[in-house]
Amino acid sequence: MFAARRALTGAVQARAFSASARDLSKVTVLGAAGGIGQPLSLLLKLNPRVSDLARTRKTFYTPNTNILTSNSKSMISAEVQVSSLPALVGSYILILDKLGVAADISHINTKSKVTGYDPTPTGLASALKGAEIVLIPAGVPRKPGMTRDDLFNTNASIVRDLAKAAAESAPDANILVISNPVNSTVPIVAEIFKKAGVYNPKRLFGVTTLDVVRASRFVSEIKGTDPVDEKIVVVGGHSGVTIVPLFSQSSHPDLVGNPELLQRVQFGGDEVVKAKDGAGSATLSMAMAGARFAESLLKAAQGEKGVVEPTFVDSPLYKDQGVEFFASKVELGPNGVEKIHDVGKIDATEQKLLDACLADLKKNIVKGVAFVAENP
Ligand code: NAI
Repeated sequence: MFAARRALTGAVQARAFSASARDLSKVTVLGAAGGIGQPLSLLLKLNPRVSDLARTRKTFYTPNTNILTSNSKSMISAEVQVSSLPALVGSYILILDKLGVAADISHINTKSKVTGYDPTPTGLASALKGAEIVLIPAGVPRKPGMTRDDLFNTNASIVRDLAKAAAESAPDANILVISNPVNSTVPIVAEIFKKAGVYNPKRLFGVTTLDVVRASRFVSEIKGTDPVDEKIVVVGGHSGVTIVPLFSQSSHPDLVGNPELLQRVQFGGDEVVKAKDGAGSATLSMAMAGARFAESLLKAAQGEKGVVEPTFVDSPLYKDQGVEFFASKVELGPNGVEKIHDVGKIDATEQKLLDACLADLKKNIVKGVAFVAENP
């Protein structure tokens, strides 16, 4: 029996590690020392499709944009910042340091090479050069009482500057924007790429995967099912009322109009912000969601068909209503966006949610576009 199990394990591992050298991809994480960036980098290091992991390893912005807050026992020196987050399950240490995170992850015995870069223009250019995927979790997270839009003033310029570097050094990469407010930061990246003459709408993605992950989990908790089987379509954008779950399309249409569930899906991020009590927002679940999206993109790039992920993209669906970007199910392919699915059949309650979403989304998008026009 043990021999059979060993053989099975071996076969699974052989399949998992079967990506050929030709298939391997360079992935860059900008903001890799942060709450999301660290576990995201770890998950990418464990992904056999990734050959090179390039990471920027220190804040570009101000030292206090890191997650050290009143909730943290912190020891800060010029070289190392250590924070323990007692509010999280178990206890563990995050080390945000100048040199060590890349070195740490690089010891994991998977094939990919991990390189940390200094946050200089040269370091950034080296991190980006040749990247197929650039994930951007750089920027400040929310504190209790804040909306994602409250982050705009700080994060807009961070994302703008990183987009400029990406347009210069990785114009053909798939850009995955995690930094909030996604509804505005994605249009900011688009504007910067347009100005540089390298905009390809098929390669720009706002990462809304966490909304779908949450919806699937919350439904499974109500129904006592396995979340793997709960495929909940979530459309719109990535904040508050712009997050529109379509339960009518799931196997539980009775959940349409369930106010508690809707509240959890639209404001699930607030639960985490509140629980962390000043120490930031979702990081571990976000890292999982970001790694899932990157994995889907890599699978599609490597020829797998039928890879569909929800994501916030330059979309034709509501352009006639002045909404240039919209999240819906998107089929991914070697060129990025292969096919944008429309929202499909929805019921009257969901239509009302969608109307509210579009009104807000339009404002968020215009705000991002205006920011670049006013702050080029
Ligand atoms: P964090 O503060 O822990 O980490 C941010 C990292 O970005 C830090 O390492 C910081 O040094 C770095 N950084 C800041 N400015 C930079 C710059 N100009 N260039 C390069 N790196 C820079 O924040 P956390 O928790 O990792 O969140 C990051 C962002 O992700 C926030 O904007 C947050 O709102 C967003 N987020 C998005 C989610 C989504 O579903 N799309 C879910 C959760 C958070």
